[in-house]
Amino acid sequence: MRDEIVAGLEKPQKELPCKLFYDERGSHLFEKITMLEEYYLTRTEVAIMEENIGDIASRLGDRCMLIEFGSGSGEKTRFLLEHLKNPAAYVPIDISKEQLMRSAARIAATYPGLDILPVCADYNDAIQIPSSVKTVDRRIVYYPGSTIGNFHRDEAVDFLRRIARICGPTGGLLIGVDLKKDPAVLLRAYNDSQGVTADFNLNVLVRINREFDADFDIDRFRHVATFDPSNGRIELHLVSLADQTVRVEGAEIVFEKGESIWTESSYKFTVEEFSKLAFAGGFQTKKVWTDDEQLFSVQYLTTHSDIDA
Ligand code: AVJ
Repeated sequence: MRDEIVAGLEKPQKELPCKLFYDERGSHLFEKITMLEEYYLTRTEVAIMEENIGDIASRLGDRCMLIEFGSGSGEKTRFLLEHLKNPAAYVPIDISKEQLMRSAARIAATYPGLDILPVCADYNDAIQIPSSVKTVDRRIVYYPGSTIGNFHRDEAVDFLRRIARICGPTGGLLIGVDLKKDPAVLLRAYNDSQGVTADFNLNVLVRINREFDADFDIDRFRHVATFDPSNGRIELHLVSLADQTVRVEGAEIVFEKGESIWTESSYKFTVEEFSKLAFAGGFQTKKVWTDDEQLFSVQYLTTHSDIDA
């Protein structure tokens, strides 16, 4: 992580990996973001799931193994598991061991017949899916929250191909994908009036100061979110309010006033754009559920034949 941080800050456009957001305070701030009026994503995704759960469950079918990438608190999953027909196994994958064990234990208590196989790992690394003692008819990867939007296009295709290989020829992917819309609506979602997103973004610097040898002056940076229409993405930046030099792990990082650190990309898609991306990643779109305003989508995709299993 240390080398990645310094290397990012030494680029002409300084950048930091968005996984840095999710320390304990950052995860808590993200929870707060999901409850903001401006942040339509989470509540819209939950509403789409609730509205269409019958159709979703019948598409996933009987005896599936549900594999969740970045299971977190596992809240959305509980609802899904409740409605699946005879689910065989649940494989939560998360980088946080405490979070993983807590949610696995809670789910085990509610679903005694379910084979629960937690995997503590960074899902960006190669992952070995444990085998179940139960009969599994189909492997389903669940990837909610539009987290796919954090990847640049080529990375997203590679990531989807890895998922397709995990799913195998009979498997599927249930994924949350945020949709393109009026940029004003997008910008509001990432520039909330209470400043929670600003705290979430600035927390990256707080974390680096605490966990690494660094001396960022948090008051001399400002949260900025922009929409880049040509790339179809929201960008989060931390803009330097002054000419300043910051020491990070022995490196001297020089900022001009107005210069930024790019901390996150959040890509937005039309249904057609995502379908093309998914195809390149080994999937064909089977069903797209949206809300009345077409703010967000939940999509069910299956692997197509030319993926090496
Ligand atoms: C968790 C990646 C889906 O892109 O909307 C929220 C993260 N960043 N506010 C998103 C986030 C700023 C979020 N994802």
